[in-house]
Amino acid sequence: MTAVAYRVLVSALLLFIGAAAGNAMGAQASLYDRLGGAAGVSAIATALIDRVSSDPDLGRSFKDSKLDRIKKLLAEQICDLAGGPCRYSGDSMKEVHAGHHISEAEFYGMVADLREVLKARHVSQGATNELLRLLAPMKRDVVEPAHIAP
Ligand code: HEM
Repeated sequence: MTAVAYRVLVSALLLFIGAAAGNAMGAQASLYDRLGGAAGVSAIATALIDRVSSDPDLGRSFKDSKLDRIKKLLAEQICDLAGGPCRYSGDSMKEVHAGHHISEAEFYGMVADLREVLKARHVSQGATNELLRLLAPMKRDVVEPAHIAP
């Protein structure tokens, strides 16, 4: 092997090792990608709203609502929160949920349903927890103040 060929080979090897190390050292896919990208997020939002709105314990507030609008905007919101290429264009969580008298129990009921939906789609525990952590702070705008335990 000539000296030049040897140098080229060594450089290629070093490049390969560097790239592999970069991947191993936490160049992790975004939460949006781990939720399955546009198709995954849209399927998650649809399944969640279908599930919650048809649940006898949770569905009451959805009775007069446009489910297709909620599904589309919830998908957009999750995409935005999870680092995807969307910007949420719906109304504020406070405005949207005002007057529906949503209780803390209903909020946690929806969280339990979301866990089930994510499990059925084989979303990892890590990605599930990350998504729940992003949604948790919205509780204060969704749940009617009188329904929040002191
Ligand atoms: C973190 C939790 C939640 C998020 C991120 C969320 C998100 C959304 C979004 C994006 C919309 C549509 C916004 C718009 O129309 O501009 C919506 C509407 C709605 N959500 Fe939620 N929601 C949450 C919790 C809940 C819970 C726990 C319930 C009841 C069990 C609920 C009931 C509703 C209803 C009834 C509407 C339609 C309101 C109307 O059209 O008057 N949401 N939600």
